[in-house]
Order: sequence, then C-alpha cells, then structure tokens
Amino acid sequence: MDKFHLLFQNVFSLLTPLAATIMTEKKEKYLNPKASVNQRVNDVLERMTVEEKIGQMMQVDHTAIQNNPSDITKYFIGSVLSGGDSEYLDNSTSNWANLHNLMQSYALQTRLKIPLIYGIDAVHGNNNIYGATLFPHNIGLGCTRNAKLVEKAARITAEEISATGIEWDFAPCIAVPRNIRWGRNYEGFGETQALAQILGAAQIKGLQGKSLKDPTNILACAKHFVGDGGTTNGIDRGNTEEIEAVIRKIHLPGYISAIHENVGSIMASFNSINGEKVTGSKYWLTDVLKNELGFDGFVVSDWGAVDLLGDDYKDDLEMAINAGIDMVMLPFRYLDYYNAMMSLVEEKKIPMSRIDDAVSRILRKKFELGLFEKPFADRALEKEVGSPEHRAIARQCVRESLVLLKKKNGSLPLKKNGARILVAGTHADNLGYQCGGWTLTWQGGSGNDITVGTTILEGMRKAAPEAQIDFSETGDFTDTKADYSVVVVGEKPYTEWYGDSNDLNLPDDAVELIKKVKNYNNPVIVVLISGRPLIIEKILHYSDAIIAAWLPGSEGDGVSDVLFGDYSPVGLLSNSWPKSMEQIPINIGDDNYAPLYEYGYGITSFKDSPTRTAPNFLSSILTGAGKKIELTFDKPMKDTSSAKTHFVITKNNEPIRTEIRTSLKPNDDTTIVLDLDEELSKQDEITVTFYFGNVESSDGAQLETFGPVDVVK
Ligand code: BGC
Ligand code: BGC
Repeated sequence: MDKFHLLFQNVFSLLTPLAATIMTEKKEKYLNPKASVNQRVNDVLERMTVEEKIGQMMQVDHTAIQNNPSDITKYFIGSVLSGGDSEYLDNSTSNWANLHNLMQSYALQTRLKIPLIYGIDAVHGNNNIYGATLFPHNIGLGCTRNAKLVEKAARITAEEISATGIEWDFAPCIAVPRNIRWGRNYEGFGETQALAQILGAAQIKGLQGKSLKDPTNILACAKHFVGDGGTTNGIDRGNTEEIEAVIRKIHLPGYISAIHENVGSIMASFNSINGEKVTGSKYWLTDVLKNELGFDGFVVSDWGAVDLLGDDYKDDLEMAINAGIDMVMLPFRYLDYYNAMMSLVEEKKIPMSRIDDAVSRILRKKFELGLFEKPFADRALEKEVGSPEHRAIARQCVRESLVLLKKKNGSLPLKKNGARILVAGTHADNLGYQCGGWTLTWQGGSGNDITVGTTILEGMRKAAPEAQIDFSETGDFTDTKADYSVVVVGEKPYTEWYGDSNDLNLPDDAVELIKKVKNYNNPVIVVLISGRPLIIEKILHYSDAIIAAWLPGSEGDGVSDVLFGDYSPVGLLSNSWPKSMEQIPINIGDDNYAPLYEYGYGITSFKDSPTRTAPNFLSSILTGAGKKIELTFDKPMKDTSSAKTHFVITKNNEPIRTEIRTSLKPNDDTTIVLDLDEELSKQDEITVTFYFGNVESSDGAQLETFGPVDVVK
C-alpha cells in the first residue's frame, strides 16, 4: 500500500496542473465521498462486471481464505466473516486488526477497490477476542427490562469490535424463543415479542449509532428471520409449525421494530416454516420482508444454509438468490459458488435485475459505513477494549439481570463484616461457565484462563474483604459452621443445537451438593447459571434463597453486588419458569398457565416480610420413607405439636384419610413436619391444603388458608 501510494504521488506530482485537474474530474464518482450514496451506488454498479457483482454477493470464512488471500482479489470477494470457531492464533485485539486489515488490503487491490465488509458474532460483547468486555447473554438482558442499559452495552460492543477493524456484527438475535428446550434460548431476550422489539431496537441503536458513518459504528444484523424460536419441540434449525397469524403476531414484530430502527442487514434463518425453508422462501424474504415491510438493507443467508436447500448446489443458489438472499454466507466453497453463479446468470436463471438489486443493497451499506474512506482499523481504539469503564457497564447489566426467585427471611443480603460464608459448586469459580456459549470459541469453554474477567467467587471476595469466605467446589469444609452457604451451579456452556435438550433438570450432582450443604444448617443461597429456566423442584426445599443469574459474562462482581445487598435485585423473568418438563412449552398467555414462576416475576426487595404478617408457604417435600411431609415457610414458626389443625392431603386427586400430627423440624424452625399414618409413594401425585388451625409464626401471625400445593417427592 505504502509503496503504491508513493508511486502514485510521484507520478501525480510530475503531471502538469491542467492534467491534474482533468484527472480529478475524471475521478470516479463512486469514490467521491461528497456524492450521495445513491449516486455512488449507481456509478459503481455501472462499472461492475458480472464477475465483480457475483463476488460482492459472497461471504467466506477467514479460515477458508487466510492461506490464499489473493483469492479475495481474484474472485472479487465482497465479504469475510469469522465464525464462532474461526479462532485466530494470537487472539488479541491488535492481531485481529491485523487479520482484518490484511484481508481488506486484498479487496482494495481489485480493479474497483471495493472494500470488504467483515462480519463477526459479537453476541454478548466482542466475544471472540481475548480480553473483551463480556456482557450477559440476551436472556439476562431481557430480565433487566432496561432498554437504555442494553443500548449502552451495545455501544460498548461496537467500540470493542471497531478496535479490530471489523465493521459488521451478526446481532441482535431477536428470536422469540417459545420452547426452552431450544439450545439458543439464551440468545433471545425472552418469550414475548415485546422484548424482542424493544431490546432488539435498543441493541441496533447501540451498534449502529445515529449515523453509520461514525467510525465506531457497526452494521447490525437482526437474526434469524423468521420463526427460529418457534420450532416444534424447540429443535434448532427445525420446523415452525404455526399458522401465519401466529408467525406474524409472535415472530415478526421484532423485525418491524428493527427495520424502523434502520437495521442494515437481516440474516435469513435455518428453520422452516410449515415445511418450507426460509432461506429459499420468496414469500418470506421478498414478499414480506422487502416488499411489505420495506426492508432496504441486505439479507445474508446463515452459515452454509443455502447448501441445505436441496441436493444440487447450483439449484440451491438459484432458489436462494431468487427468493431474496443478497449475500451468501458460504462460508467455504467459493469456487463452487463462483462457477455456479456465473452459469446461472448466463443461463438467465437468475435475472440480472436480481443481481443488481442484491449488489446495490450491499454496496449501499458499504458506502453508508464510510468503508471506501476508512477501510482499516483505527488502532487507537485498542486501549478501550476491556476498559474499567466498559466493565462497569457490564457489571451493571449483570446485577440488573439477576432475578431473585425465592427468599426466606434473613437469608439475604449476606452480611459482609466478620461473616463466615461457605461457597460451593462447579460454577462459583469458573469464568468459562459463567460466560456460556459464544465465548472465545463457538461452544464456549471452562476455566478462568479463557479470558479476562472476575468469577462470582472472586467478586464476593472483592466485595467483602472482611468476611471469611471459604471455597470448596464439592462442598467439603472442615468446619461447616457458618453464617451462610452459597452454592453456584447450573448448565455447562453450549451453543446452537448442542444445547437442545429434553432434560432441563438441574443436574443430579448439583442437587446432591445442595442437599449436602443444607445439612450444615446454614441458610443456603443458590445461584443458578443457565441459559434458561431449569427444573428446580428437587432443590426448592433445600434452599433458602434462589437467584437466577443466567449467563452473566465476564463481570462476576455484578452477582456479589446483589448478594451483599449493595444493590437490590430488580430483574424480572423473561421466560416463564416451569415446574416440570411436562409443562414445557409454557408461555405467558397460555391456557391453564400455572408455571412455578410467571413471566415477569421477580422479588425486588430484600426486606423481610413485616412482623406479624401471615407466613408465606415456600415449598413442600415428601420425606421419612413416605410418611412425612415437610412444609417450609418464609419465617420461623411456633411449635405446633399441640395445635389443632386441618390439613387435607390428596393422593392422585383423592383426599386420603389419615391422622396428621404436626411438629417443628429440629434445627429448622421455618419448617413444619406433618406425620402421617399412611405411607405415600413417590409414584403418587400428592397435594396438601391447609384449611384452618392454630398454626402461627413465631412473631405471632396466623397461617392463612393455602393450597392445594404439589408435594415434591
Ligand atoms: C448461526 C448464526 C451465526 C453464524 C455465523 C450460524 O451457525 O446460526 O447465528 O451468525 O453461524 O457464525
Ligand atoms: C462456526 C459457527 C457456526 C457453526 C454452525 C461453526 O463451525 O464456527 O460460526 O455458527 O459452525 O454451523
């Protein structure tokens, strides 16, 4: 480049002033930043050959091209991406900028010097790059209900992407996941279209800024159009079997808001709608998205998705481009693509008007982004990556995303001074786990070396230096007497279909750990790390407080902010929380909607329930070889052994006749034990109802009628 410049300047200075004027006048209009975007698009389009146009429409992964980057020049490749697993040797920001700039320099060697647009999945911060600020995944952001904050986070992401020179982010994911079995549940903001609309728009605003020209602004990509979150059984890339009215009501509104926000690109989805793959659907891509909704950006297909349309690649391309795909994320077979496209155009199977439309859409965004003027990374931005200011916003996102599901009086917040706190669990000190999928690698990873950040344990230690915090992943402590036990457990990272699951029960080892720690007779605070609600009925009875922390990302101190009460919890559920696998799919507005915790639920105060207010029932469980039922309340209870009570127990919907003696549980005065004559089996469905009787909390408030509640076995 430099040599080239020098040569150019030397030649230029030799020319007479007159000749120089003629040359500038002759300077191509599309290279003149003062011309309007439309003029520039039309001008360059007129100059382009078919080969150059076809090249603009392809996107290759950097791993397919890094060993022979001159193919970028040779085939006029218009776009490069780095997929989730397309790592780069030295994963630093500056090295990514080198990679970007190298690729870009080959594009600028083409006849028309049309720059590349380089895309990446920065879905919770610029997550492929070591040391970037990592935010909670969208499910957590959904729980913040804070659009301004989500916008700020996206702005930071844009700045950290810009530092690598990359100019395009495959985000926001505005899927509306309707079945938490889906492995991509956490990539969506939540189960309602309102969250996708409001927070999707906020993310686009943050990424794209007011005008794409600002050097730290990044082209957004709303994905995956459309119906990705509605597939039957939550199968990734599956079939969304819904009448069109449902697609329009649930899955389309996010795109309407995104288009309103001027989103520059939209990714077509892998999924089918009633058997038709969206990637090949003219109806959805052209009739609805472009014509009806007026989307004027470009549509990119998903990773290798065109290949999956049928058996013959050329036919697949014909179908996809004619359906409305403007850019093909190949991501590898660019020679096949190039040859097939050349003959499709020659055979007039794809009309030139379609090609011109696709290329214009892509070029328009390149001009709007100012790529022709500024094709390379701004190295000065590097020092912003992972800065304390950026991390402070991520930390705020974490604490606002936490949903307090349950709390017994006195269990939270943790005291700092002099308190002894036992910390246990696989996820307490594991940065990889708390970041989830799409972290450095596609599937995410394990351990604290994965990137720069603060684990939940580290956050707690920083927040409470005066407390004595002991950690054992397996919950083995020589001295188990403490003020609290905090257990951090959950799901291990996964991405896309790797996360599809028919078993969302909290893993057995986590359940056993919580039970073991509960035996230490300290209040047990469970922090769940997961990409979706998990089935937690087995631990309800063994935990005094439960916090859903989702996949918080690199800033674990956001969790300690809330645990120690420096901030009150504010998060509200963005997914309905089911009681059992059988209840899934469950979404707000369903008939007979009775989840464990409703969409929008969340305890937002640490205040204990006021004295002399009726105790609240929290959980129940069958114990004592089927002859005892324990009922736990949010505050200490009075001894009930001589009280006259009227409890009714049903077994498989029939009331049973049994003597019931009640007493307080030794070592746990928040729990009343019902002793039965009859032995109940774990196979039975059991409920308890309290009608009346002399049951009181120790502060003297009468227990009110409650139930029927399910008894966990
Ligand atoms: C995913 C997209 C992603 C793309 C590029 C696909 O498999 O579905 O969400 O943007 O890969 O990595
Ligand atoms: C890529 C991802 C892509 C995935 C699914 C991986 O190899 O790195 O970006 O989403 O494949 O097709």
